[in-house]
Amino acid sequence: MEKFMRHRRLRRTNYMRDMVRENHLILDDLIYPMFVIEKGETKEISSMPGIYQYTLADFSKELDELNELGIKAILLFGIPECKDAVGTGAYHNHGIVQEAIRIAKDKYPEMLVVADTCLCEYTDHGHCGVVEDGYVKNDESLNLLVQTAVSQAKSGADIIAPSNAMDGFVYAIRKGLDEAGFTNIPIMSYAVKYASSFYGPFREAAGSAPQFGDRKTYQMDPANGREAMRELESDIAEGADMFIIKPSMSFLDVVKEARGKTDAPIICYNVSGEYSMVKAASLNGWIDEERVVNEMLISMKRAGADMIMTYFAKDIAKRMKEVEK
Ligand code: PBG
Repeated sequence: MEKFMRHRRLRRTNYMRDMVRENHLILDDLIYPMFVIEKGETKEISSMPGIYQYTLADFSKELDELNELGIKAILLFGIPECKDAVGTGAYHNHGIVQEAIRIAKDKYPEMLVVADTCLCEYTDHGHCGVVEDGYVKNDESLNLLVQTAVSQAKSGADIIAPSNAMDGFVYAIRKGLDEAGFTNIPIMSYAVKYASSFYGPFREAAGSAPQFGDRKTYQMDPANGREAMRELESDIAEGADMFIIKPSMSFLDVVKEARGKTDAPIICYNVSGEYSMVKAASLNGWIDEERVVNEMLISMKRAGADMIMTYFAKDIAKRMKEVEK
């Protein structure tokens, strides 16, 4: 017997490496975030090359391509024509997201439509709830959030993903959905949501930068790990079906720890800033985008994620199609 272990035995050939690979990236696990606009033209988001704000007509065409590529789930964000203090556009039955959901479900009934349930894209102050004296009021914001979730479910959303980070949002939405007859609609809660600078490009995409202050009174401090488990535990207790951790790259320790706390599905949100950094480096020729993306996403699976919300989903689906050919 030799005195040391030959780890390289299992790395000798491609097939050998394939055989012992522990984690895999498959299309079933990917959720593709998309933006729909009520007014204006379809436009590429300057800080997120390859990602667009779609008019409903172009969104409809884009769905054909996604379906062709085998994308099974999308996450929808709406940018309304008019914003006001209470985010009326978020829970209007003919709001932009409600219309987009109807189009998607009408065209591709099997495609899973996840509705991001928040108010920040719809409020003129850009905060995720009702503001009074510069403070986002918790319980008042919950009422509007529940109305938003119910109107999204009525439009046909398959999954409700509340992201405004108010206390009790899962409890309130579960109750609201059940009372409206939507007992079968699951809640994919943004259980652990940090007040992160990695959301920068998203705020351009969704036009949702806060007009004053920041989101630190409702989103978490990136310095805290134990607090994330408390947030997770309360969403488990309130009856969420699946749990999002966001952002991902800098928070994989949290993902790993969450994996130990729940057997329910965990989702990593590979957020806008994570996308933009990779795209920027790749456009400069500094990194190999395909490999970096694979490494980044597989690390989320390795940490314990079941699914990944990622703006790279379409690129990945295209590459997989090419391999098939
Ligand atoms: C809505 C919401 C945000 C993101 C997802 N839902 C923005 C925020 O909280 O400021 C960010 C997603 C991304 O950066 O890709 N509250």
